[in-house]
Amino acid sequence: MARDDIDRRIGARSFARLLGDWRPPGGRGLTAALAGRVRLLVLDGRLPLQTRVPAERELATVLDVSRTTVAAAFETLREAGFLNSRRGAGSWTQLPPGTMGAGMSSPFSPHVDRTLFDLAHAALPAPAGELRAAAAMAVGDLDAHLGGHGYDLLGLPALRAAVARRFTARGLPTTADQVLITSGGQAAIALVLAALVTPGDRVLVEHPTYPNALEAVHARGARCVPVPLAPDSPGADAWDLELVTAAVRDAAPRLAYLIPDHQNPTGALLDATGRERLVGLARRTGMPLLIDETLAELALDGPGEIPVAAHGAPDSALVITIGSAAKALWGGLRIGWIRTAAPTVRRLAAHRAATDLGGPVLEQLLAAWLVADLDPIVTARRAELATARDDLLARLGVAFPGWRPSHPTGGLSLWVDLGAPVSSRLVGAARRHDVLLAAGPRFGLAGAFERYLRIPYTLRADRVGPALERLLAAWHTVDASHPETEPVAVA
Ligand SMILES: Cc1ncc(COP(=O)(O)O)c(C=O)c1O
Repeated sequence: MARDDIDRRIGARSFARLLGDWRPPGGRGLTAALAGRVRLLVLDGRLPLQTRVPAERELATVLDVSRTTVAAAFETLREAGFLNSRRGAGSWTQLPPGTMGAGMSSPFSPHVDRTLFDLAHAALPAPAGELRAAAAMAVGDLDAHLGGHGYDLLGLPALRAAVARRFTARGLPTTADQVLITSGGQAAIALVLAALVTPGDRVLVEHPTYPNALEAVHARGARCVPVPLAPDSPGADAWDLELVTAAVRDAAPRLAYLIPDHQNPTGALLDATGRERLVGLARRTGMPLLIDETLAELALDGPGEIPVAAHGAPDSALVITIGSAAKALWGGLRIGWIRTAAPTVRRLAAHRAATDLGGPVLEQLLAAWLVADLDPIVTARRAELATARDDLLARLGVAFPGWRPSHPTGGLSLWVDLGAPVSSRLVGAARRHDVLLAAGPRFGLAGAFERYLRIPYTLRADRVGPALERLLAAWHTVDASHPETEPVAVA
């Protein structure tokens, strides 16, 4: 890539924050530790490729180490192919030649070489037949909208009504004026944070949690208050609500972001009692709950749970529920929603104008058809996913007997305890074997979860075997008895 194309840069303070707790115990081996941490950040995608890193002198000051230490660490990274420097112009992150699969332009691009096995995205292809049929209906509906200007901060009335009916059917009575349509679940998270959180505020998060929510909290200038989830419990035991209560008391977070339905990445499901307790906590403390229901429709072993807001707060602004069409339908629709008290919906719509003036009309019309008749689609998806989950669990048991995967009752992925803190190294090795994965630390703060790997069961059935063969080959290149980095304490 020509240098002129590179416009990403990271400041010394952000860089230091990303490094987290990188210093080795006892303070010896600083150079190797610094180089090792940067290498991991590049390998697991938290430090994007082609990012211009801070100057050595500036970084040394912020990290409170000698400039020689930083210079030596950068030299190590250059020799290993993780940094590219030009005299007088700075240094950029890169992967060593041969690390990236052919045609992989960016870890975020789905348009990768088809020979790559994508286990980094926990998402299914579109239900093609239903989507085509809904698209045809939506084109028919379009005429009624073409005479208007097409802007609507709240979303198309037909889709708001369809989403409200779906909530009502799931046990949470909802009217269309309690729903705001967004451009996906991620935009919904960002909009709520923009409206409710100010820089410097604290936001309670589960740990591990959905990486892009952590990014959104950081982008808002807020600080995360992580509350650990028990890694190997598929059920309500995963949440220690005493710990949640203590964190709310001690840190006074402005908001709690929680994924009680088939939590990403652990797959855990919070039971009705836990939901009631959460609502009680919100009422006692005045701290709103931002409940991410993105995976709620994907209960694989039973009916799932009714929404958190149904437990005593159906019309309260204290529970803000977000949802998405991405997992039950298709990520490419870019449709999500926010459901809360109607006045808060109007307030959120006013905030939206700063970044986005509404969603595309045609996609909303299309989604309205699909959401209005979701049952046949999700019934088929659940059956397909349950089979895929069981198949993946069985195959992992044979190929990786030392790994301990979660046994989720819903959602799209397994959270696997690798038995050693080698997740980032395995992900790097897997890339060299044409398998894309998200390493455990993507789901945590300060380098946590290096022992864990998220593996989705969303690959096409005939590609699972070949993907696992490659993963096994990669695993054999990772010597688990000599992990490159020490496990890092959870912040
Ligand atoms: C828990 C969770 N929230 C939000 C999102 C983002 O959804 P969308 O694709 O609708 O922006 C995802 C996507 O993976 C998710 O897993």
